[in-house]
Amino acid sequence: MAETIFKPGLEGVIAGETTVSAVQQSSLAYRGYNISDLAENATFEEVAHILLHGELPNTAQLTQFNRSLAEFHQLPDAVVDAIRKIPTDVPMMDVLRTGVSMAGHFDPVQGDGETELRRRATWLMTVTAGVVAARYRLINQKEPLAPKPGLSHAQQILYQCLGEEPDDTSARLLDLTLILYAEHEYNASTFATRIVASTMSDMVSGVVTGIGTLKGPLHGGANEAAMEMLSQFNTPEEAETWLRERFAKKEKVMGFGHRVYKNGDHRAHILEAELRKLAIQKNKQNWMDIYDAIKKPMVEEKKIFPNVDYPCGLTYYLLDLPIDMYTPLFVCSRVTGWCAHFIEQATNNRLIRPLSRYVGEENRTVLPIGDR
Ligand code: SDX
Repeated sequence: MAETIFKPGLEGVIAGETTVSAVQQSSLAYRGYNISDLAENATFEEVAHILLHGELPNTAQLTQFNRSLAEFHQLPDAVVDAIRKIPTDVPMMDVLRTGVSMAGHFDPVQGDGETELRRRATWLMTVTAGVVAARYRLINQKEPLAPKPGLSHAQQILYQCLGEEPDDTSARLLDLTLILYAEHEYNASTFATRIVASTMSDMVSGVVTGIGTLKGPLHGGANEAAMEMLSQFNTPEEAETWLRERFAKKEKVMGFGHRVYKNGDHRAHILEAELRKLAIQKNKQNWMDIYDAIKKPMVEEKKIFPNVDYPCGLTYYLLDLPIDMYTPLFVCSRVTGWCAHFIEQATNNRLIRPLSRYVGEENRTVLPIGDR
């Protein structure tokens, strides 16, 4: 077998072909639909349909998809009981990992054909959202709420957390972040999910793997880390002082940089424009001054641009959502991309098993223990 090149972190390596999305410097598109067009003219349900079924739904297809979501929305009691037992200081990402794994024992979909996999993906959309909402209620000493009929997915998440229908701005901005977070080709958590599919394992194991991978602050955990960073500062001057120290120590700033995008993240541009309007609407312009105090030197001096997590953290914060919930909300969206890739891999599979180059010691002798 001819030895191929080795690239740390598989940087720049094409590890597969996909029709789910295309991430390029010039554009981001889900199944050929440009992200700015989707952000402007679609809902998260329509985007989820594109990812799982391959195209924008017509009215009948969207009605059917929404009916499937509504049919699945009730979390199994055993999952709520399991969540009750988890100590309140456990991060919500770990609760989500456990909740999805527990729900897998009550999977309502039988079979593993493409149709069944798509239905299981739709069910997992409601499970991830349900676990986030149930946990939010329980750590606030409230009982989980049954879903309210007739709400959009984003409205339902906020309703089942807050106990009342969200205002239009909150629902629209959550819907926008769910669209922007839904899919991003072979990012770490999606690639991990594809590896699970390539061994012919099950979709629940694939999503639990995705959750464990996305949690890391170099990946999805950056939206929480970026907001933890910003919340240290009371003034832009404090932020700039901190940043200069960070530069001196050559330490990374969460929410910035990207393995693929080197001239900026299309999603960050879209979301930042909405964030600026939200800050004015909420009379929280001071937060944007702090936000810009970090962004400006990163872009102008380091040429390192915000990724989607930077504006998203502050967006969720201005919507009064707890920081511990930000990466779990990323999961509620990315579960659609993970499952789309799981299905693509499972239906046209070759086991994913790369090589490694051995660089350790060789030809060592096993001495009797008395001589070691
Ligand atoms: C997501 O892959 C995806 O598509 C992911 C994602 C998705 O939708 O699935 O887009 C979501 O995970 C976004 C990324 C969220 N992570 C962060 O915000 C964490 C901070 N970012 C960095 O850790 C970093 O930018 C990565 C991990 C995102 C990308 O790292 P790379 O490609 O391995 O780049 P690198 O670490 O080799 O950096 C190249 C240079 C280095 O400088 P030198 O050592 O060459 O002098 O740029 C510097 C880095 O130090 N650099 C940063 C930086 N990111 C890169 N310096 C300061 N702060 C940063 N954030």
